[in-house]
Amino acid sequence: MKRFLYGSCILLLSVSVTLSIYFTFKVLSIEAQSKPIPPKKYDYHFVLVPEELDNDYWRLVEKGAKDAAKEHHVLLEYVGPAQADLKEQIKTIERSAASRVDGLLTQALNEKQFTPLINKIDLQGIPVITIDTDAPKSNRIAYIGTNNYYSGFIAGLALAKDLKGKANVAIITGRFEASHQQLRVQGFKDAVKNYKGIKVIAIEESNISRVQAAEKTYTILKEHPEVNAFFGTSALDGIGIAKVIQQFHRENSTYIISFDVLPETIAYLKEGVIEATVVQEPYEMGYQAIKMMIAHLEGKRIANSIYTETKVVYRKDLPLVPERNYEVRR
Ligand code: BGC
Repeated sequence: MKRFLYGSCILLLSVSVTLSIYFTFKVLSIEAQSKPIPPKKYDYHFVLVPEELDNDYWRLVEKGAKDAAKEHHVLLEYVGPAQADLKEQIKTIERSAASRVDGLLTQALNEKQFTPLINKIDLQGIPVITIDTDAPKSNRIAYIGTNNYYSGFIAGLALAKDLKGKANVAIITGRFEASHQQLRVQGFKDAVKNYKGIKVIAIEESNISRVQAAEKTYTILKEHPEVNAFFGTSALDGIGIAKVIQQFHRENSTYIISFDVLPETIAYLKEGVIEATVVQEPYEMGYQAIKMMIAHLEGKRIANSIYTETKVVYRKDLPLVPERNYEVRR
């Protein structure tokens, strides 16, 4: 009898322990299931790779892209060479593709190297949008930026009109090998070729550097003192040209048409050292590029290429609106 009672007690105890363990787990797992799952912080991860990070023009592209990314829950990284360096830019693109981002936005500096590079990334399943400079024969899904040939063409027309069809012109271009710079130069030359009084005397490259643009201006003036007009085809060129022209007190006898409106460009425009400049819409490029990439990933059809606005502006047109395309905050 004693043994029977003892056995029943043990049995009861083990049943109750088993049941309480079972119910504790059940409650815990129900609690775990009903706990809200933390929201996914980002829907997509994109990378934007320009030719030069520390460039006020590209900072505006970045700003537009970051604003759109914030609105649409996109994690956006702005990476690349601090100072223009093609090898470093290409390496950054390859590294970004290897880390399996959802989309890549980049400036396709020259067709020869960027067409195979973009095609390789496309084969890995990563869509590419080109910004500012296009590789039209590549498998990029779209281009957004200036119509670079047209922007050079309107610069040529403006110079011809302002100088009444007579000038000895020197061109300082960002890089000889960059497609958008070649297109700007070509557009300019085509626009002035029907003016017998306009001669393009020299063309040099600045390597995307104010200092080198200034050095090249100095050399041109020494070798070709007859030059009385300059065209700077990328954002820092006009600034370098203007510095030398002002230093040599030649602002009254030299006409300068530049590109973009960095703070220094605006200051020279206001002083009358730079007469005119071709503006682009860098903020808009960045902003729209992000929206295009999202639309593509959502299976929507997007335009093959979108040309943002470009025009020639003078001192009388300042201040420019909408501010977001032109205002650099440091
Ligand atoms: C061009 C950019 C370039 C920048 C250099 C701009 O005019 O559109 O591609 O990187 O100038 O300063």
